[in-house]
Amino acid sequence: MILTVNNLSVSFPVSSGIFQKDLFGISAVHHVSFSIRKGEIFGLAGESGCGKSSLGRALAHLFQVAGMKAQLTGQVELLCGQERVLLSLLTQKQMRPYRRHIQMIFQDPFHSLNPRMTIGEIIHEPLQIHFPHSGRKERQERVDSLMEKVGLSPEYGRRFPHELSGGQRQRICIARVLAVSPQIIIADEPLSSLDVSIQAQIVNLLRDLQEDLNLTYIFISHDLSVMKYLANRIAVMYLGTFVEIGETDEVYQNPRHPYTQALFSSIPDLKDEKIKKNTLKGEIPSPQYRPTGCCFRTRCPIARSECSIAVPQLMRFSDNHDVACPYVL
Ligand SMILES: Nc1ncnc2c1ncn2[C@@H]1O[C@H](COP(=O)(O)OP(=O)(O)OP(=O)(O)O)[C@@H](O)[C@H]1O
Ligand SMILES: [Mg+2]
Repeated sequence: MILTVNNLSVSFPVSSGIFQKDLFGISAVHHVSFSIRKGEIFGLAGESGCGKSSLGRALAHLFQVAGMKAQLTGQVELLCGQERVLLSLLTQKQMRPYRRHIQMIFQDPFHSLNPRMTIGEIIHEPLQIHFPHSGRKERQERVDSLMEKVGLSPEYGRRFPHELSGGQRQRICIARVLAVSPQIIIADEPLSSLDVSIQAQIVNLLRDLQEDLNLTYIFISHDLSVMKYLANRIAVMYLGTFVEIGETDEVYQNPRHPYTQALFSSIPDLKDEKIKKNTLKGEIPSPQYRPTGCCFRTRCPIARSECSIAVPQLMRFSDNHDVACPYVL
């Protein structure tokens, strides 16, 4: 396992009116445990606000970097060669040599790029930070080869981000991340700001790079059809928890959790008979006021009174398929 996450929670402080309370009352990620194999594409699915980005950011340890106030508990362990590193125990300074191993790409490639830097400078910058002892010429060659790797001519190195299209900018973001030879790339909705015609190109680029470089991805998307195409394994999140996790084909063919069934029934091109039409009632509760017991029970079509008592744990449904509901096993 390249990454092992154990009981990870991420909470944000509640702010009410002019009073900034320092209570970490918003539980965006709630006691999540999972592992990822090297070379795997691990998909994270779930409605807006279920905690996908918070989980991704926590794994990349970005909260502190961005100056965001968040409380993280639990363990995150990364395999670096032969070394097992408990990232969650490291200080910012101790984290520095490992930071490059987990990189993130985001939805909006424009805001991820400094508008005053040329494309060449943008890709060069992380090389300078992470490999300060390499020579200038060597780094320039690496910039050119990275641009070619993401399908752009090195000629673009002299241009500025605003001179590029959305798809080209996302390619630059990918090149910049690849510059530091990461092991894991967390792609947080990398397609959602792009035209549909460009999305397929970026999906294929990500897949080709994964194969060429044996990368590991955590792929976050609202697009369940892309997820099915790309991910080897998928976890379905609801209110900060995993309700179902398994091999993608298995989960798509046989979704067990009532929430997964509802989510999948909205996919237009999945006309599997087994997926009953199932529209959820009500709104997703606030992570500040989590329901007791099973957090999905307030919207669940098969909820019973016991569901308000015990928090359901992920249980084995079949090989590589776990579900957090004892009534669907
Ligand atoms: N900095 C923050 N301060 C307070 N609450 C936050 C912060 N960031 C996220 N949240 C809350 O945490 C919960 C999870 O948010 P998150 O952005 O991780 O969800 P998401 O699944 O990525 O949603 P989307 O699909 O819309 O991107 C939400 O209720 C959100 O309002
Ligand atoms: Mg998000």
